[in-house]
Amino acid sequence: MKNSILITLSITLTLISGFAVSEERGIGGVESLRGSAELETTRAADPLKRVPRDQVDIESSYVFQPPLIPHHIRSYEVSLNANKCLSCHGWKNAKQMGATKISVTHFTNRNDEVLADVSPRRYFCLQCHVTQSDAKPLVGNTFERVKSLQ
Ligand code: HEC
Ligand code: HEC
Repeated sequence: MKNSILITLSITLTLISGFAVSEERGIGGVESLRGSAELETTRAADPLKRVPRDQVDIESSYVFQPPLIPHHIRSYEVSLNANKCLSCHGWKNAKQMGATKISVTHFTNRNDEVLADVSPRRYFCLQCHVTQSDAKPLVGNTFERVKSLQ
């Protein structure tokens, strides 16, 4: 009898301390954009967005917006060793590939000097250009297209 009380007690204690730990390491009751998954647990990845192979007309929302990419970019490497985008959009190959040349702005550095090749700050194309997909805003907002483009 005494033993079973002890066992019950120790199980209860383990459970309580277990809860306390998960409260401490968990999300502390705060739900973020990634949902209520705890930091230590890997949640299932979101499904991939469908990127159309061909142009879908999503118009610009403001002046000087980086144009959206009207084609898929799967396995297009952009790294220290290679820039697949430039193999079509660089000035050397654009005409032959039938692609739009990167504009002169892509050659200027932060001091407004025009370089002989693409500026390092424009090297990682996907920092600014994204593929066209029907992605819903993560956070509600009241953004409207600028008047001149409406
Ligand atoms: C195989 C050649 C090729 C590669 C590689 C390529 N593109 Fe393109 N891209 C094109 C062509 C051709 C067009 C024009 C297509 C059209 O209008 O339908 C285009 C259009 C674009 C446009 C729209 C330009 C405009 O005038 O609105 C952007 C932005 C773009 N690509 C970005 C990228 C980025 C970023 C990468 C690398 C991740 C990339 N492209 C890789 C061929 C390529
Ligand atoms: C820092 C942001 C930024 C980065 C990085 C960037 N772009 Fe752009 N890109 C823009 C903006 C803004 C525009 C539209 C205004 C302009 O032409 O400069 C543009 C325009 C373009 C256009 C259309 C040009 C035209 O004449 O209509 C193409 C094609 C393009 N970018 C390709 C690329 C490629 C390829 C890379 C990577 C090598 C790249 N961009 C990197 C911001 C960026």
